[in-house]
Amino acid sequence: MELKDGQYLIDGISVNDLIEKYGSPLFIYDSSRMKLQYQRLFNAFPGIHVQLNFACKSMGNRTVMNLFNRLGSGLDAVSPQEVRLGLLSGFSPDKIMFTPSGVEFEEFEEAINLGVRITLDNLSVLEQFGQTYGSSFPVCIRINPHVMGGGHIKISTGHKGSKFGISLEQIDQIVSIVEKYGIIVEGLHMHTGSDILDPEAFVLSANALYSTAFHFKNLKFLDFGSGFKVPYKPGDYATDVELLGSVIAESFQTFCNEYGRELMLIFEPGKFLVSQAGYLAARVNVVKKTPAAVFAGVNTGLNHLIRPMFYDAYHHIVNISNPEGEKHKYNVVGYICETDTFATDREINDIREGDYLLFLNAGAYCFSMSSNYNGRLRPAEVMVHQGIDYLIRERETFEDLIKKQLQVDLP
Ligand code: LLP
Repeated sequence: MELKDGQYLIDGISVNDLIEKYGSPLFIYDSSRMKLQYQRLFNAFPGIHVQLNFACKSMGNRTVMNLFNRLGSGLDAVSPQEVRLGLLSGFSPDKIMFTPSGVEFEEFEEAINLGVRITLDNLSVLEQFGQTYGSSFPVCIRINPHVMGGGHIKISTGHKGSKFGISLEQIDQIVSIVEKYGIIVEGLHMHTGSDILDPEAFVLSANALYSTAFHFKNLKFLDFGSGFKVPYKPGDYATDVELLGSVIAESFQTFCNEYGRELMLIFEPGKFLVSQAGYLAARVNVVKKTPAAVFAGVNTGLNHLIRPMFYDAYHHIVNISNPEGEKHKYNVVGYICETDTFATDREINDIREGDYLLFLNAGAYCFSMSSNYNGRLRPAEVMVHQGIDYLIRERETFEDLIKKQLQVDLP
């Protein structure tokens, strides 16, 4: 995004024009940023056969998924619905990895019938898989590496107390089930967490997976999940993917030499690919001065962007209607009947009622975590691609809200 002659532009298109055309609140995505991020990460592991599987839980729009498919990406799907969205948006089944957590066995059967790859993360499920399929389909097994990493406890998934994966201390049980049924283990998986602050966590988890890998003879890939930290605020720490990539590539190569075969290295990025490519535009409904603070109340809330309330996440906010205005401190709050505070004491260019604010990093886990809370409708999504804007999801209507509701006249 750039500021030119008082106008904020996304790939050359004025944000104000987009708001005028599509209304607000509005999610705006920049495909050029997605492509840049994809290529940057893909090229960060010199000499290694790498596959990136876009974690579509971060942004589940079919146009976005199709874009990543055309860039050569695979797909990380966590529900049968994400698998089917992936197939609809053009991914071939072998490029889709179904990696759910704690689901009923029928979901794996559905995924197998759809022809996609599966990751199992529980001993009882592994047993059931062995009984049902034996050596008919290869599987990937998710290991819990016992490494604490992640920007917030709610998004740290690789520590000992986490529900995810099979503990690496249970390796003997895994091996015994695998041998009992002749299960073909084609991959090992782990995911330490999201927004990993300490690069050492990646290294520790990688080492845990390398040592586990020697228990399996037929591996084709190791999947290191994700956790690349993107900057959310000016001057924020971000994972240096080139530096990390060269460290991981070297250790992976050493591992492959010892293992005796060149394996593929898979990552499943969500945030890295789409966080910075997304913007949420909202109108300032009210400016309220109280003895405590000046509130800017916008026409969106935790129903559209829950990250600040859920993870205390910082999202940078720009007043696109008054870029030159003097800066003041504001509490930016949503319109939901709860305390949905986006920012406290935030310095923003003078805000007037009717101004438009732009929330940055609104690509990953924003629309995809949205809801109809308070009976509110979800915004439209627009993709800016090669200097042209495309509507990629219509704004919800009242009809959408009542579509599945049944009003039963109870006796
Ligand atoms: N792979 C697995 C197995 C995952 O569970 C996740 C994220 C990813 C990959 C992608 O991680 P990423 O590249 O986006 O860090 N809603 C939270 C993030 C939850 C992440 C859940 N799993 C947030 O808004 O911060």
